Amino acid sequence: MSVDVRSLIHEGAERTDRALEALLPTAHTIPASIHAAMRHSVFAGGKRLRPVLAQQAGVSIAGVLPPGIERLGAALEMLHTYSLIHDDLPALDNDDLRRGQPTCHVAFGEAIAILAGDALQTRAFEVLAGLDCPPPATVHIVALVANAVGTVEGMIGGQVLDLESEHLKPTPQLVEAIHRAKTGALIRVSVVSGGVYAGATPDDIARLDRFGRKAGLAFQIVDDILDMTMDSAQLGKTAGKDLATEKATWPAIYGVEQSRRDAARLIDEAFAALEPYGPRADGLKSVARYLVDRQN
Ligand code: IPE
Ligand code: IPE
Ligand code: MG
Ligand code: MG
Ligand code: MG
Repeated sequence: MSVDVRSLIHEGAERTDRALEALLPTAHTIPASIHAAMRHSVFAGGKRLRPVLAQQAGVSIAGVLPPGIERLGAALEMLHTYSLIHDDLPALDNDDLRRGQPTCHVAFGEAIAILAGDALQTRAFEVLAGLDCPPPATVHIVALVANAVGTVEGMIGGQVLDLESEHLKPTPQLVEAIHRAKTGALIRVSVVSGGVYAGATPDDIARLDRFGRKAGLAFQIVDDILDMTMDSAQLGKTAGKDLATEKATWPAIYGVEQSRRDAARLIDEAFAALEPYGPRADGLKSVARYLVDRQN
C-alpha cells in the first residue's frame, strides 16, 4: 500500500471543512446563540474520519473522488458532532472537554447545547436530501443514515445501552452490541453511503457493509483503549472516564493487550471484503488502518 494516509486524511478533512463552512449558518445568523454553538462544536478540531471514509469508499467504487461527495461527508460529520454534544451532556457522560475545547453545554448552556445537537441533526438531513447524485441514491442514503443513527442497532440505541450498562458487570455480547450500535453503525454507514453515492451495486454495498461493520467495531475498541492509555491533553477529551464511570468497554472485559490484538485482527478481516477492488481500495484500507493505529 503506497498511500500517504496523513495527506489523504488532511486533504479529505480540509475538503470537508470547506463544505461545512458553506453549509452551516454563519455565527451571526439569527438566532445567533445556536449557530455559534453549532459552529463551536463542529469546528473545534475533529479528525473528520467519517467523511474521509465516505470519500475513500467513493473512490473504491468510482475509481476517482466523486464530485460533491464532500457534502455527504459534511452531513455525516454534523450527525457525529450532534452525537458528541449530546454524549457530553450532564445527563449522559457529563464531560467538560471535547476536541480540546470546553464542551458545548459548558460554553453555551445546556438548553442551547441540546438544541444545537438537534439542529445539526436536522440540517444534516436537509443536506443529504439535496445531494448531487441520482434521486434513488439520495433516497437510499437518507434511509440508510437515518437507520444508522436510530434506536434499533443504531447510534441512539447504542447510547441507551451504554448508559443503562454503567455499573453493571458487562458481558462480551453486551459490549459488542453497544459498540456496534453506538459507534459502529455511523462508521459503517459512512462507508456504505460513500459507495452508494458513487454508484455502488448491491454486491458492492454488501462488501462495503462487511468492511464497515468490522472497521466500526475496531474503531470503538480503540476509543476504549485510548481512554485508558492516553491523557486528556493528548485526547482533547477527559481521559480515564470509562473506568471512573464503570462503562462497559472492550478492555474492561479483555484487557488492553487483547483489545489491541482484536482491533488489528478486525481490520485485517475487514480488508478481505475489499479484495475485488484491488488498488482502488488502497485509500480506504489505509484510513481503516489509521483507525486502529491512531493516538487520539
Ligand atoms: C469519538 O469519535 C467519539 C466516538 C464515537 C467514539 P472521534 O474519535 O472520531 O472524534 P473526533 O470527531 O475526532 O472528535
Ligand atoms: C460515544 O462513545 C459514542 C457517541 C458519541 C455516539 P464515548 O462516550 O466512548 O465517546 P467519547 O469517548 O466520549 O468520545
Ligand atoms: Mg458515551
Ligand atoms: Mg463520552
Ligand atoms: Mg470513549
